[in-house]
Amino acid sequence: MTDSSSAFLAGRAAIVTGGSRGIGLATAMALRAEGGDVLVCGRSGPALDRARARIEQAAGAGRVAAVVADVRRHDEAQRLVTAAVEQLGAVDILINNAGIGRFAPVGELGVDAWVETIETNLSGVFYCCRAAIPVMTRRGGGWIINISSLAGKHPFAGGVAYCTSKAGLNALTESLMQDVRGDGIRVSCVLPGSVNTEFGGGRPSADAGWKLAASDVARAVVDLLRHPARSLPSRVELRPSTPRK
Ligand SMILES: NC(=O)c1ccc[n+]([C@@H]2O[C@H](COP(=O)([O-])OP(=O)(O)OC[C@H]3O[C@@H](n4cnc5c(N)ncnc54)[C@H](OP(=O)(O)O)[C@@H]3O)[C@@H](O)[C@H]2O)c1
Repeated sequence: MTDSSSAFLAGRAAIVTGGSRGIGLATAMALRAEGGDVLVCGRSGPALDRARARIEQAAGAGRVAAVVADVRRHDEAQRLVTAAVEQLGAVDILINNAGIGRFAPVGELGVDAWVETIETNLSGVFYCCRAAIPVMTRRGGGWIINISSLAGKHPFAGGVAYCTSKAGLNALTESLMQDVRGDGIRVSCVLPGSVNTEFGGGRPSADAGWKLAASDVARAVVDLLRHPARSLPSRVELRPSTPRK
């Protein structure tokens, strides 16, 4: 995982949570285009079937697997990692991408929306890391890349659950990075600004061409994975180059 040749991920196995659409799907396609084997998860079986077909039709020759799993449940996170070991032989790369956005002022945000956001965006990452780290350690190392958000650095009105979940994720990432880097596991987070996806119930739109594309975030992930083993870029902030006027 340290050179700049094509197919540099050949023989490497990656899990991408929330890989059925948006940033996760683009990242799974990018990892496979670089030679990797990929396993995607999400909560919807039909959406995963469609994603798997799209990944298989795109560039690359690596194995593709899809598993229905809800990262909010620690037993399902464990099952996800077990499935990757069974179907791909290993877990070298974990992309914690699954995330949701529920937006309302504190007084109007339902308790369920708060809990769902924190459990998905923060606890889910902890569960997946906790399950994957022993596998990576036995393998002699790996990469964990968490898809956070600039919202974790720049909180905004109506974003209490989302911004808090991503601020927590930034702290989780840095703490975890220091826990495991001595074991050859590198941990980074990518903090995108606005990305043109279905996030938060939106729809990708041609009018939103000023936003980042999902493939831009996928490229940041691949660029991280290309870094030489001695270097660890632990945080990447990615903004639209020309914000909406
Ligand atoms: N779009 C943006 O503007 C933006 C900006 C910064 C950061 N991000 C972050 O980027 C990540 C991906 O966002 P996106 O824009 O690609 O959103 P998206 O298009 O809504 O995709 C979210 C993905 O996560 C999956 N997912 C949601 N809850 C899950 C759960 N509990 N267990 C497993 N999978 C789950 C969804 O599948 P199911 O619904 O079928 O489970 C879907 O595959 C998120 O962490 C988000 O916070 C997005």
